[in-house]
Amino acid sequence: MMATRNPAPRLAPGCRLVALDSVGSTNDEAKRLAGEGAGHLTFVWAGEQTAGRGRRGRAWHSPRGNLYVSVVLRPRCPVPKAMELGFVAGLAIADALASLAPAIPGRLLKWPNDVLLGGRKVAGILVESEAPGAGPVEWVVLGSGVNVASYPSRVERPATSLAAEGCEVAVEALLGAYSERIVAWTEVWTREGFPPVRRSWLDRAVGLGEAVEVRLHREVLKGIFAGMDDQGALLLDQPGGRRAVTVGEVFAGAAA
Ligand code: BTN
Repeated sequence: MMATRNPAPRLAPGCRLVALDSVGSTNDEAKRLAGEGAGHLTFVWAGEQTAGRGRRGRAWHSPRGNLYVSVVLRPRCPVPKAMELGFVAGLAIADALASLAPAIPGRLLKWPNDVLLGGRKVAGILVESEAPGAGPVEWVVLGSGVNVASYPSRVERPATSLAAEGCEVAVEALLGAYSERIVAWTEVWTREGFPPVRRSWLDRAVGLGEAVEVRLHREVLKGIFAGMDDQGALLLDQPGGRRAVTVGEVFAGAAA
């Protein structure tokens, strides 16, 4: 019997695809290509990663069957502004999943850059950038990993995959849909700035109005997840008032 192969991915007009069978990390490869001059909307996609990286120096489970893609973008903006693009990537994943698996819940984004299904992590985003001195960024790399077929069992936080949640999605189709949504959302962000991205992200956020625990480097904050401010900081309502948190890990928790 002949093996069946999925159709090759079709990326949105204006995107360039660098398809690799196996690589250490698509983010590292995208950064290398960006340093050599790769253009805006270069997508680096790999069948597997041998040294996939997550945020906070963690490893990213990267066997065959899942989506590993990093996009080179070249916005003209300072580093803090470029970090807003992590929310653009989250929205692009949420939209792409909704277009291919309509039963996916509407609220699935977790601050800052995670995608959850049934409270378990199905995708993560790693944003990296290069800026000489204090000037604008030279490039931004948005790395996204989506657990399509499998997920790691021994991780700090529970994970899942699209397959485990009953969503049969081909990696190639997901990549194509993701590219469409990256193009659309980066255009919105470039034209109108962060407000529409923020609004749409909050429309798809999980846990709004619920008790959370935010783990900082040396401190754990408890409060109610009240939203996100104009710069992408998480707003936490505490008995003493509202606090904007720029870095931290959010867990479901009991209010202070
Ligand atoms: C996280 O949630 O910690 C972020 C995970 C990001 C993983 C993706 S997979 C594609 C790209 N290449 C990497 O090495 N990391 C990102």
